[in-house]
Amino acid sequence: MYAFTPYTVKDLTVKNRLMMAPMCTYSSNFEGEALDFHRVHYGSRAVGGTGLIIQEATAVLPDGRISDRDLGIWDDKQVEGLRSLVQLIHDGGAAAGIQLAHAGRKCGVADTRTVAPSAVTFSSDYPEPHAMAREEIAEAVRAFGRAAARAAQAGYDLLEIHGAHGYLIHEFLSPLSNLRTDEYGGTLENRVRFLQEVVAEIRRFWPAERALALRLSATDYLGGGLTIADTCQIVDLVKADVDLFHLSSGGLLPAQMPVFPGYQVAFAETVKKTCGVPTIAVGLIKSIHQVEEILGNERADFVALGRELLRSPYWPIQHCKPDAEAGCPIPEPYRRAW
Ligand SMILES: Cc1cc2nc3c(=O)[nH]c(=O)nc-3n(C[C@H](O)[C@H](O)[C@H](O)COP(=O)(O)O)c2cc1C
Repeated sequence: MYAFTPYTVKDLTVKNRLMMAPMCTYSSNFEGEALDFHRVHYGSRAVGGTGLIIQEATAVLPDGRISDRDLGIWDDKQVEGLRSLVQLIHDGGAAAGIQLAHAGRKCGVADTRTVAPSAVTFSSDYPEPHAMAREEIAEAVRAFGRAAARAAQAGYDLLEIHGAHGYLIHEFLSPLSNLRTDEYGGTLENRVRFLQEVVAEIRRFWPAERALALRLSATDYLGGGLTIADTCQIVDLVKADVDLFHLSSGGLLPAQMPVFPGYQVAFAETVKKTCGVPTIAVGLIKSIHQVEEILGNERADFVALGRELLRSPYWPIQHCKPDAEAGCPIPEPYRRAW
């Protein structure tokens, strides 16, 4: 089965094409540390046969948190707990990825001064953000670099930059949230500048041989916002330094999204074919038949499962033919159940 064939990106060989999509659990303490919940949560998905687990959005700065219970990577003290997560994921037979994030104007931590490219709110539920000065932009870029260094120390195999869902990087990319008139706003080339600086800074600290992925919202679903054609241009501008592209959509502003099985697969397919880069397809993929169709037709290189893996942590080993697939070994202690 296509789902259970290995894939190599940089020095990482993932045993199968199934990924756990990054999903916030809002289950940390206020210090942003990894706790037993995270160890059980990610460890069980590893034992369940997922090839690559991408850990939930992990904040590079305290004011870049989505909630005050987010995992964090802004402090050296957080590295030890993250290292234990990586170890458990590896022990379970999976590769470990981390998603680095800054929430920008969608920061939901009370009494926090939120930042964005421009002083435009997401919705009336959020405070008006402070438009970042150049030095604040430079500090956010440096924070991504420091976080990448910590992620390397913790032992992650892959790092994913969260450039989607209306968080800080996406806010710079979209003309609907970036109204700047300096070199960070206006043309698409200018709006991509912040992302390019983040990528370059991460590359200074993230080992060259380890894989770097980027998650983008392929469309804003709004007139005047990002389209899949813009996304292809953005990918072209960063693809020399990014190994894998993860195509999601929406989240910049409240918008009507057409949602149906595989609703974002066409974005992964378009980027793969237009830009010539490996991609991850995600979004309402719930059956092994969908996974086989996507991979067999070469519409994407990986398939990420989100909510399906929340419902069924052992989904991969339940959907492979036991022992027929090298990419899906049944864990030794469970063999008598098959
Ligand atoms: C509870 C929950 C938390 C999520 N948190 C994140 C996140 O931390 N980072 C991210 O990029 N996407 C996040 N997402 C989006 C998922 O990664 C995924 O793209 C989305 O759920 C669609 O895939 P699915 O239909 O397989 O669930 C989250 C989704 C859910 C349901």
